[in-house]
This record gives sequence, structure tokens and C-alpha cells, in this order.
Amino acid sequence: MSPKKSKKSTDTVTITDNSTGKSIELPIRRGTEGPSVFDIGKLAQTLGLYTFDPGFRSTASCSSAITLIDGEGGRLTYRGYSIEELAENSTYLEVCYLLWYGDLPTKQQLQEFTRTITYHTMVHEGLRDFYKGFRRDAHPMAIMVGVVGALSAFYHDDIDFSEQHSRNIAAHRLISKMPTIAAWAYRYSQGEPFPYPRNDLTYAENFLHLMFSYPTEPYQVNPVAAKAMDLLFLLHADHGQNASASTIRLAGSSQANPFACVSASVGTLWGPAHGGANEAVISMLEAIGSVDRIDMFLERAKDKSDPFRLMGFGHRVYKAYDPRATLIRKVCNDVLRELEVDDPLFDIAQELEERALNDDYFKSRNLFPNVDFYSGIILRAIGIPTNMFTVIFTIGRTIGWISQWNEMMQDQGMRIGRPRQLYVGRQHCTYQPIDKRSNEETQSK
Ligand code: ACO
Repeated sequence: MSPKKSKKSTDTVTITDNSTGKSIELPIRRGTEGPSVFDIGKLAQTLGLYTFDPGFRSTASCSSAITLIDGEGGRLTYRGYSIEELAENSTYLEVCYLLWYGDLPTKQQLQEFTRTITYHTMVHEGLRDFYKGFRRDAHPMAIMVGVVGALSAFYHDDIDFSEQHSRNIAAHRLISKMPTIAAWAYRYSQGEPFPYPRNDLTYAENFLHLMFSYPTEPYQVNPVAAKAMDLLFLLHADHGQNASASTIRLAGSSQANPFACVSASVGTLWGPAHGGANEAVISMLEAIGSVDRIDMFLERAKDKSDPFRLMGFGHRVYKAYDPRATLIRKVCNDVLRELEVDDPLFDIAQELEERALNDDYFKSRNLFPNVDFYSGIILRAIGIPTNMFTVIFTIGRTIGWISQWNEMMQDQGMRIGRPRQLYVGRQHCTYQPIDKRSNEETQSK
């Protein structure tokens, strides 16, 4: 099969199956920005051939108007607004509104939205009991998968998710309840009481209150910590068709309950190649321990026989510095200074970055720090335990997942996601009764 540009028109690609001589002209679709695609929708019915692209290296799975990543230029926009401008001027809740509704809110719209989110932060009392079923040493992401999925048992009833109004309610519930669910996962692991949310606090302040307050004394939110937390939520809010966003689209394409679908995305995010990397970065920096051991770890990262990778480095789409990492690195400096925290891991991280960026291995592969490289240092300075880092990512990313799900549900052409496969297994086997099977025969298969 030889894909080549058609001579007749620049807006098509011609695919020819050389074994049969059959051809098809496939339309090229161009977005407003970013790489174009050619639409293979009619390929199978015309040529009887499917495409093969494990890991989606060359495949766009959908069209989307939410987030643009310019991987070569190191640029990220939400609904057309640059991440730098949003980080400088906006707040997490305003960005949630932007991602969900598609436009920045008016003052009144933002007030109403903020009020809706603030007044739905409590969860059903029955949901509190779920936590008791977990071991105390369970990873908080494991608890998140379970408790977020359990929301589907509380909000299934007669809701019709094909209606926009029902989807709005689901979105409001998820955004507002996620910090409560997340903080309680931590409190449970500590054997501490579960505080109720406070409606007089902002989104980020309330999360810190849920994490760190005690019923025995008033809790003062540190404004530096709250500002940094809000920014981290904002920077993690969406990132296109990554593994966890693709998960919610695939799960949701069966028209499953959205709370169950979000739980599937939480599970996907947990992996160290995805959102679990922020936790893995801290473990790596601790293992490095001092600046003089950096080179040894760099050598390990370059050694193909060693599974070790530089965590927080590299990205499928960015072939330049991740713009979120630039912003987080700067905030990291500010937070450590303002909170008067001296974290030796920050020194190791900066030195590691510098050496990696000057190393041919990383330069030739365009490997730069990603969003996870510095975020953990800020979280440590705020007092967030390492195993909660991916949970924080989960809170911020919830709006992205459900916005992707909503966009898919609005698409009139939406169908259940159902990839094909290239079958490479055995054929036409005859079942042998167990007493007629020899060891060699079984093992050879
Ligand atoms: N350390 C060492 N080498 C690396 C790293 C790394 N962190 N990342 C990529 N490489 C190398 C690969 O070994 C490969 O080398 P080769 O061409 O000699 O075989 C080359 O760079 C390309 O890497 P791929 O694995 O093909 O890139 P892919 O797009 O599949 O993976 C990923 C991207 C998973 C993010 C990868 O860079 C990685 O594992 N990074 C570390 C984990 C991490 O930080 N994940 C968070 C990503 S951001 C997020 O999800 C929120």
C-alpha cells in the first residue's frame, strides 16, 4: 500500500493497494490550526484494508474545538486562549467555565457558576461509608477510582445524558465534589476526621481546608498556597486527546454513565507514563539524592537495557519545552521563596534539567521537562504528601475529561468507539480432550 498525494487535487490523498491495483482517493481535512488529517472512513469498505497505528502515533481520533497543542512551538491554548494569559489573569473556575461552555463568562455568569460549584461540594453521606471499605494503606488514586466510580450509583436514576441540561448537572457535580472526594482519600489514610466543605472559601482554599483543617481549631488558609494550588488546577485542566481523555471518549461512546467513565479516566491517569509521573519525579529526585549523582542517573536514562527513564521528561506531542513546565518552574521559585522553604530536591531538579538539556541524547530526541517535572516541588512546599500528587492532577483534569465527553456527546455523528486489530494468532485449532494433550504440544503453543 503506498499513500501519496494525488496529482489531481491537493485536498486528497490516494491510497493504492498494489496487490489488487485498487485505489481510493481520501479527502484531506484541515483544522483551524495544527496538522491536517486525511479521512480514512471509507477505506475499509472500498479497499477492505484497515490502518495499523498502535499508540495512535499518526492517528487523530476525533475533531475537537477545546484545546490546541502546538508541539513544535511549545504552545498550548484552551478554547483559543493561551495558557500563559489564562495563568496570569484567570482562575481555575473561570477556566472550567471556558472549557465547558466554550466562552469566557460575563461577571454574572461567573458568579452564578461559582455559586453553583460552591454549593454542591458536599457528597451523599452514604458515600462517606465507602472509604471505610479500603485498607488504610491503599493508594489514594485507588480510592479515587473506587469512590468516583461509586458516584454512578448515587446519580444514575432517571437522568438522560443525551440532554445537555443533564450533562451540565453532571459536570457541576463532578467539578464541585472532586476536591471533597480527593481530600477525604488522604484523611482516611491518616485516620483523621473528614471535614465538611466550607462555602465561604474559594475552590482552592476549600481544598486546602479539606486536606489540613481539624475540628478542634480554626484553620487559616495560606494565600500563597491557595494561589499556587489554583494555578496548578488551571494548568492541568485539559490537554487534548491524551490517554485519559481518550479513555473517557471511548468509555462514554457506549453511552455509559459519565461518573463511571470519569473513574476509567482516573485509572488511566494514575499510570507513571501519564499523570503518575509527578509522584515518580519526586521518588527519582530522592533516589538521586545529591547533585554529584545526577550523571549516573542520566547514564541510566540513556541506557536502553535499563528500564529507568527520566521522569517528568519527554512528551508525545511536545518537541519543545512544555509551556506548563515553564510556568510551573517560575511559580516553584516564587512559592519556595514566599513560603521560605529550602528544598534540596529543587536544586537537584534544576541541575538535572540543565545537564539533560545539554546532553546529545536528550537534545537529539527533543526531550524537555513536562508538566510533571516541577509541580511536585510546589506541592511538597504546600505540605501535600507525594502519593496525593496524581490526585491533585485528577481534580484539575476532571473538567477536561468531561468537556471532551460533552463535545463527543454533542457530535451528531458520534458512534461507539470500536478499533480493529491485526490478528496474528493461531487458526483452525481442533480441541483435544485433556488426557490426549502432551506437555510438549501444550508448551509449543
Ligand atoms: N527518559 C529517557 N529517554 C526517553 C524519555 C525519558 N523520559 N522519554 C522518551 N525517551 C526516549 C525513548 O527511549 C525513545 O528513544 P529511542 O528513539 O532511542 O528509542 C525516544 O525518546 C522517543 O520516546 P518514546 O517512548 O517513543 O515517546 P512516546 O511519545 O511514546 O512517550 C512519554 C512519551 C511516555 C511521555 C515518555 O517521554 C516518557 O516515558 N516520559 C517519562 C514519563 C513522564 O514524564 N510522563 C508524563 C508525560 S506528561 C503527562 O502525561 C501528564
